Amino acid sequence: MMIIHNIGLLTGIQPQGKLRTEGIEQGFTESMENAWLRIEDGRIAGFGPMSTCPSLFGEEAIDALGGMLMPGFCDSHTHVVYAGSRDGEFLDKIKGLSYEEIAARGGGILNSADLLHRTSEEELYRESLPRVEEMLAKGTVALEIKSGYGLNPEDELKMLRVIRRIGQTVPATVKSTFLGAHAVGRGYTHEEYVQAVIRMLPEAARLADFVDVFCDEGFFTVEDTARILEASRGLLTPKIHANELAVSGGVQVGVRFGALSVDHLERTTEAEIEALRGSATMPTMLPGSSFFLGLPYGKAREFLRAGLGVALASDYNPGSSPSGDMRFVMALGCIRMRLTPVEAFNAVTLNSAYAMGLSEEYGSVTVGKRAALILTHPGWDLTKIAYQYQTPFIRQVFL
Ligand code: NIG
Ligand code: FE
Repeated sequence: MMIIHNIGLLTGIQPQGKLRTEGIEQGFTESMENAWLRIEDGRIAGFGPMSTCPSLFGEEAIDALGGMLMPGFCDSHTHVVYAGSRDGEFLDKIKGLSYEEIAARGGGILNSADLLHRTSEEELYRESLPRVEEMLAKGTVALEIKSGYGLNPEDELKMLRVIRRIGQTVPATVKSTFLGAHAVGRGYTHEEYVQAVIRMLPEAARLADFVDVFCDEGFFTVEDTARILEASRGLLTPKIHANELAVSGGVQVGVRFGALSVDHLERTTEAEIEALRGSATMPTMLPGSSFFLGLPYGKAREFLRAGLGVALASDYNPGSSPSGDMRFVMALGCIRMRLTPVEAFNAVTLNSAYAMGLSEEYGSVTVGKRAALILTHPGWDLTKIAYQYQTPFIRQVFL
């Protein structure tokens, strides 16, 4: 049992059963000044104003010194398990080559797949773990990690085993996604590879929680995606990469197959918003990759205006977003997507937890949820962490 007392601002309070925020609601969260919070067996057991603080006698007590206590970040879309680096392509990018041009020159996803093929499972684990540990130190408490740099049965399963091992090592919850359909693996024709992905599904389903397809121009078509998702029914819930490079139809096929989320959405029209209306699918935007690749930012405001919710995630990967800093993602949501600090905060906590099926456990201050919390230094609030976006603000992460 533990009591955190003298909390200057307890924020992100949501009622039980609230699994996502949508539309106007996304701009609101409940807060309490001068508060305490009790943790029992790793879960939030109660909280209230300091005037009602239980006796600290005989309890483990932490003086928050007036800092803010908030739910930790949830990052529903990463590719943080990868081998080596793509810093050589960074120079090509600086010289002006686009993501597609770099891929066409042998860079991109296939470059990472070649590196991963030459890297042992043990080494892949050892290279990837520090990246996840850095994310945790920056306040991420639950994350999703995708395969997709294997692109053949052995290497895809190697990635999924490494993801599982990372989940067993770190105190954060790790969800795993089979993204065999990230690019066509070497030595296969397009059609052969789609068939190979379908054959990998039963084995992948033993290790992964979700299935993903890069449904975009130059990668996989709506028809490929539908075939893979049809074969995934009853095995894995979809989360789809859609509309990063073109208006791809990926949102519609994702919604049709009950995807938990459709992600990227740098390019969308009214039709995507219509397809999402009334669905259980969470639109997820990845401003870190818009920033790094110089792509348009997702039209989050239009989605909110249509009554939809929006999640934000880091997309941490070596090609389009080499950062898992969710506070920066939140700041980009405000600065470049014109979300209010509270809208961006709900996008990186409750809605992102929803986008990986974890919002019953994570994403808000709610009695019964995991006590996965960030305690800040004194003086911070949700606006300041987005505004003064580089000043260290975390005093302690509770996991
Ligand atoms: O989400 N868009 C597809 N996949 C990743 C990039 C992967 C890479 O370039 O290595 C993404 O941006
Ligand atoms: Fe991605």
